[in-house]
Amino acid sequence: MVYINTRIHQANPSLVLALVLLIGLPSTTRSCNQQEKTSLFQFLAELSQDGDLATSWHNNKDCCTWEGITCNMDGRVTAVSLASRSLQGHISPFLGNLTELLHINLSNNLLSGGLPKELVSSGSIIVIDISFNRLDGELQLSSSTAYQPLKVLNISSNLFTGQFPSSSTWEVLKNLVALNASNNSFTGQLPTHFCTSSPSLAILELSYNQFSGNIPPGLGCCSMLRVLKIGHNSLSGTLPGELFDATSLELLSFPRNGLQGTLEGQNFVKLSNLAALDLGENNFSGKIPESIGNLRRLKELYLNDNNMYGELPSTLTNCTDLIIIGLKCNNFSGELAKVNFSNLAKLKTLDLMQNRTAFSAFFGVGVLYDQLVLSRYFI
Ligand SMILES: *[C@@H]1O[C@H](CO)[C@@H](O)[C@H](O)[C@H]1NC(C)=O
Ligand SMILES: *[C@@H]1O[C@H](CO)[C@@H](O)[C@H](O)[C@H]1NC(C)=O
Ligand SMILES: *[C@@H]1O[C@H](CO)[C@@H](O)[C@H](O)[C@H]1NC(C)=O
Ligand SMILES: *[C@@H]1O[C@H](CO)[C@@H](O)[C@H](O)[C@H]1NC(C)=O
Ligand SMILES: *[C@@H]1O[C@H](CO)[C@@H](O)[C@H](O)[C@H]1NC(C)=O
Ligand SMILES: *[C@@H]1O[C@H](CO)[C@@H](O)[C@H](O)[C@H]1NC(C)=O
Ligand SMILES: *[C@@H]1O[C@H](CO)[C@@H](O)[C@H](O)[C@H]1NC(C)=O
Ligand SMILES: *[C@@H]1O[C@H](CO)[C@@H](O)[C@H](O)[C@H]1NC(C)=O
Ligand SMILES: *[C@@H]1O[C@H](CO)[C@@H](O)[C@H](O)[C@H]1NC(C)=O
Ligand SMILES: *[C@@H]1O[C@H](CO)[C@@H](O)[C@H](O)[C@H]1NC(C)=O
Repeated sequence: MVYINTRIHQANPSLVLALVLLIGLPSTTRSCNQQEKTSLFQFLAELSQDGDLATSWHNNKDCCTWEGITCNMDGRVTAVSLASRSLQGHISPFLGNLTELLHINLSNNLLSGGLPKELVSSGSIIVIDISFNRLDGELQLSSSTAYQPLKVLNISSNLFTGQFPSSSTWEVLKNLVALNASNNSFTGQLPTHFCTSSPSLAILELSYNQFSGNIPPGLGCCSMLRVLKIGHNSLSGTLPGELFDATSLELLSFPRNGLQGTLEGQNFVKLSNLAALDLGENNFSGKIPESIGNLRRLKELYLNDNNMYGELPSTLTNCTDLIIIGLKCNNFSGELAKVNFSNLAKLKTLDLMQNRTAFSAFFGVGVLYDQLVLSRYFI
């Protein structure tokens, strides 16, 4: 430092001024380079319907100013945001040539064909949202073990089919935080191990597919998992005890499957962060465990359309955040008065509509209720 200062003082005044100007100049943003422009044109070329993009994507304009394109200070493309533009055609693998691309959002278009594996396995992309399109075929993931920073993959509401990639294929996506593959036609078993490879997984949504087999005990290793939704599939078997080791769970949802067994009290107490539990439309049996009272954050409880029986446990009084309790179409009975509903100030709906047999008593009144939906007005 001292040496440089000395040199400047010895130099003539105009050189000093020039140096000051150079240093003091605000950093300018560069425009995009020809190679990146070419990759974007290759993307455009694979669209059969470009939603009028070609008007804005002009060769003699800086591609950083194009609609839907975001660049960093170096003029490198960092985001392609083209949701809801009526785009048709295929997603070009050339997007994978944009080496500083972080976000791709092509949600809610009419894109078809597959998801190029160059994008999933890119060394830069962290978010891919291609939900609500017409993409089909099997989901291909790269088996390359190179660093893959992908955090968010939303392929929901498409037409993907076939076996879901197995555990070993997901293994390379070590940074995955959210995976949404709901509303496709994936078949076969769920991958047995998600979280040994993706320890940060917080959201896993696989609802509205055709998955079969059991719930893999390995999901219990997902210590960061907050949202687990696998409703509307053909899962069978019981809830594995290991699942309850995923104690960060806030939303646990398996409605409309073929699950069975009883709800084990000592398991559910572990999920103290649970805000919503949906086990409706399965074949669960037994009673609601007393320990449900420990789930102090519970807002929504759905156990409707199962084979459960017995009373509502008085401990439910302690779940003071409850907004909705859906219990219809079971075989519950007994006095509701054991639950102090005055304590459940937020409760809006208690749905006890019975299909098979009737409630024997309600507030101690010996009336048969075979259709009972209580709204806040009554309780
Ligand atoms: C660009 O991507 C295509 C398709 O993935 C690939 O064939 C090509 O080698 C890439 N080009 C460069 C310069 O990386
Ligand atoms: C993609 O864009 C849609 C529409 O703007 C938005 O709802 C969605 O959250 C975006 N996806 C991501 C991952 O940010
Ligand atoms: C797709 O899923 C991601 C992660 O859950 C979410 O952030 C994004 O908003 C979803 N996109 C749409 C269009 O719902
Ligand atoms: C998954 O995507 C669907 C849209 O296909 C959306 O409704 C749902 O909220 C998403 N789930 C999560 C957990 O982001
Ligand atoms: C599934 O996807 C179709 C087509 O995009 C959409 O119309 C439907 O609302 C989606 N269903 C759910 C449950 O998200
Ligand atoms: C439901 O579970 C009961 C045992 O609790 C069993 O007898 C019955 O076959 C099951 N029904 C279905 C449709 O799986
Ligand atoms: C509610 O919680 C309190 C404090 O933990 C406990 O003493 C009481 O027994 C619980 N009541 C019920 C009905 O579970
Ligand atoms: C419902 O429970 C009652 C006793 O509380 C029992 O007699 C009846 O068989 C049960 N019905 C069914 C369909 O399980
Ligand atoms: C029910 O809860 C209310 C409000 O917390 C309380 O004032 C009342 O004493 C409770 N009733 C019984 C029978 O415990
Ligand atoms: C009662 O449940 C049976 C199957 O459990 C179903 O077929 C029937 O439609 C239901 N009836 C009503 C009135 O919901």
